[in-house]
Amino acid sequence: PAAPACTLVVFGAHGDLTRRLLTPSLYNLAGAGLLDDGFRIVGLDRVADTTEGWVGQLSDTMQDFTRNPNAEFYVPHIDGKVWSWLADRMTYQQADFTKPKDMAQLKTMLSGNVVFYLAVAARFFGTVVDQLGDAGLLAEAPDAFRRVIIEKPFGSDLDSAKKLNADILRRMNEAQVFRIDHFLGKETVQNIMALRFANGILEPLWRRDHIDYVEITAAETVGVEGRGAFYEPTGAMRDMVQNHLFQLLTMVAMEPPNSFEPEQVRNAKAQLLGAVQPIPLEDAVRGQYDGGAIAGINVPAYRDEPNVAPDSHTETYVAMKLTIENWRWAGVPFYIRTGKHLGARCTEVVVHFRPAPYALFKDTPVDRLAPNTLVLSLQPQQGLILGLNIKVPGTRMVLGGIALDFFYKDAFAAVPSVGYETLIYDCFTGDATLFQRADTIEASWALVDPILKAWAEDGKPLARYAAGTAGPSEADDLLIRDGHGWKPLSR
Ligand code: BG6
Repeated sequence: PAAPACTLVVFGAHGDLTRRLLTPSLYNLAGAGLLDDGFRIVGLDRVADTTEGWVGQLSDTMQDFTRNPNAEFYVPHIDGKVWSWLADRMTYQQADFTKPKDMAQLKTMLSGNVVFYLAVAARFFGTVVDQLGDAGLLAEAPDAFRRVIIEKPFGSDLDSAKKLNADILRRMNEAQVFRIDHFLGKETVQNIMALRFANGILEPLWRRDHIDYVEITAAETVGVEGRGAFYEPTGAMRDMVQNHLFQLLTMVAMEPPNSFEPEQVRNAKAQLLGAVQPIPLEDAVRGQYDGGAIAGINVPAYRDEPNVAPDSHTETYVAMKLTIENWRWAGVPFYIRTGKHLGARCTEVVVHFRPAPYALFKDTPVDRLAPNTLVLSLQPQQGLILGLNIKVPGTRMVLGGIALDFFYKDAFAAVPSVGYETLIYDCFTGDATLFQRADTIEASWALVDPILKAWAEDGKPLARYAAGTAGPSEADDLLIRDGHGWKPLSR
């Protein structure tokens, strides 16, 4: 059903996020009939512009999505009726969010339900919320909700995340805050919950008795894409691990929540993060890419990228071993890794089951049988692959491995999506299941903070890897030590 009527106020209306993600998401929601007739958009930015000018630019961007069939989001044509429906509801307002008089002006434009979308640089999150609070724009009424969507990065370490949470929660209730982690909007990430909790056969196996170790990988072929100025003080730990990888971890490892209610799911995640042990420094590897080739195209070293220091110590790769001390996972290592400019784009979870207990088939000793694996492939392929052993045809009892696979593209028609639709719709309907709560954000910062501090202080060289490879060999050693190995990156 359509979400309740509301006004979406976009701070940063001229920004990249509004153009690339927000507008196409709203177009897709409108096309699916999920927005109410009373839906409105107010775009705010410092740039002088008119509503016609702003809408015209967004309209051009929408046309861009029809040009490249290989792009992640591609539509063959923009439905004029849907776009006009949306465009007719857009208003542009030049405003400086640090100026009370501009906020007072905004107030005259708003009534009823309002969602404020903070598509601005992270250092302004606190300021915008303060200004909204001072202007009285965050006060809810029984028939009018006021919600704020906050993009990442949420803080840059534990202290700053705590301070930001405290600043925000002085101005509004936790229930009004929607902290986005866009990984949670991915179909396949949400499917981890369905897979685990809608299938009676899996959950009994989903524990230390049957699982040997788990890998979580988010490998990217892209480099820093001209974002050196953002990436230099950020690095892979803050950019990917603290948020996206830890969210994947909670999905894979949390206990079954009591129900699918937002607070129940978020409690289960908080409980899991509470069981992750402090990470010893020797269980964390940081790397940085040197020059190399990605799909046959030469790319420069990270240190040669624009706005990157020639002696930069920023990590573009992280691998870590995590230990979860609870009844389900005691003794099962979780290895996580992410990196820029790796050899393949591949986000996946690999569950390695324990080997068969006994060498029943003498021709293939048990130590030569590949243990079963379940690969949850999140992107770019979306599907599941179960590795099993079977008998190879012939007179002798020779065994071999096969893959049982399922891919979304074979079973379902593609639904054009930029990955934000579900998150935006959920915020409009007040469902916070897929958003980060203050405590889980802080819990994940608490885990990475000591490593970041130690790295900042020790001045040790980073592990190096050539662009286009699977990452530094030090990350392999992390698993070899335990008698394990990374699954090669899927292509
Ligand atoms: C973002 C990071 O949060 O996630 C980027 O800032 C990264 O550096 C991106 O490339 C990866 O997201 P996706 O959806 O492309 O896997």
